[in-house]
Amino acid sequence: LIRGETLHSLSELQIAEAVALVDTLQNWTVLDKTILPTKNRNKKFVFGKGNFQVLTEKIKKLPHVTAVFLNVERISSLTKKELESAWGVQVFDRYTVVLHIFRCNARTKEAKLQVALAEIPLLRSNLKNEASQRDQQRGGSRYIMGSGETFLETQNRVLKERELKIRNALEKLRRKRALLRTRRRKFEFPIVSVMGYTNCGKTTLIKALTGEAGLQPRDQLFATLDITAHTGYLPSHMAVIYVDTIGFLTDLPHNLVESFSATLEEVAYSDLIVHVRDITHPETVLQKATVLSVLRNLNLPSHLLDSMVEVHNKVDLIERYKPAEENALAVSALHGHGLEELKQEIEKKILAATGKKILTVNINLEGPQLSWLYKEATVQEVEVMPEEGTARVKVIIGSSAFGKYKNLFPNSKIFMS
Ligand code: GTP
Repeated sequence: LIRGETLHSLSELQIAEAVALVDTLQNWTVLDKTILPTKNRNKKFVFGKGNFQVLTEKIKKLPHVTAVFLNVERISSLTKKELESAWGVQVFDRYTVVLHIFRCNARTKEAKLQVALAEIPLLRSNLKNEASQRDQQRGGSRYIMGSGETFLETQNRVLKERELKIRNALEKLRRKRALLRTRRRKFEFPIVSVMGYTNCGKTTLIKALTGEAGLQPRDQLFATLDITAHTGYLPSHMAVIYVDTIGFLTDLPHNLVESFSATLEEVAYSDLIVHVRDITHPETVLQKATVLSVLRNLNLPSHLLDSMVEVHNKVDLIERYKPAEENALAVSALHGHGLEELKQEIEKKILAATGKKILTVNINLEGPQLSWLYKEATVQEVEVMPEEGTARVKVIIGSSAFGKYKNLFPNSKIFMS
């Protein structure tokens, strides 16, 4: 009974997620849903005979249905064709639905190329199907084209060339991004990557931390397919760049994981990871485990994993919430609860990660110290003492600049804060 209950709740969860996936797409609505056992995916038919009939009748009774979404990872193009002709509507699997969502949300050139790359296996399997159909017709795939190749060979070559072209373009973009990264490093803005499951509130949190109105959170999966960066200020006025990353999804079709994990590559170059969790989600513990295991597989530097900040978001929905994890911070990104504590924690970790220090130094106004500090460090406050001809300057300074400062101005008084 217990097993039955848990299984029941698991399929309920799966169906809720499938509905959320479809609702993500503009103009798509779920008219009806049903849970049916599917057969081993290597079998020719997805459903048993009886279930197939039940489903066919159900679909026929719903005149407004324009498509059927089977929440299985992949169906072969042959099965898809057969089901489509039996039901008279389009049939999608998870792969095609997720791909469609990615396609609709891809904004940058890179994301578009990644979608195009993820489409290749789909085109390849359609091609096989088409070729076998042609085989049955006159001429068939054995028909030799002008180039001396069969139809299948020509099409396969075209696909291969396309794939190579996309990969080359992606590589070029990656190099360009690396260049931008070095430039960004030069300005020494620390980078904070915000990660977590789709819909956990990453965009809302970044908006709350940066006060950006242009960032529109949406109750949608994958609103953030592309990496976008936003500047925010920490309690000591230090500027950091928050990077919004692609949201995780349970059971993302395998091929897509590979194509889209590329968007997570950037995380390796950040100074800190903030892991946002929707603690109201029934699967929040499993989601955390998934995020951590994906991060471990990205081969990130170990200090990034060790210093990770865990945010428990949406606490406004739970009365008197207290995180079970010692180092987690309870936050409501939507209502601005717990943000100051979070900013302080981010600042502490960023200072530790970057070796930057916040100091107050006493300088002589006649000397070159002040202009040197403006150039080499981030000056936060200058308090001039006119009688003495000196000033107290509060700065955020990197360790190498600090070393230089001590060498150049050995008599300058330094107060650590
Ligand atoms: P993806 O871009 O799909 O990965 O999503 P995301 O993680 O960026 O989530 P987003 O910020 O778009 O928020 C998703 C939904 O959760 C929106 O409807 C938000 O209003 C809601 N939300 C975010 N934070 C909170 C919170 O603290 N409390 C409550 N009640 N809702 C929240």
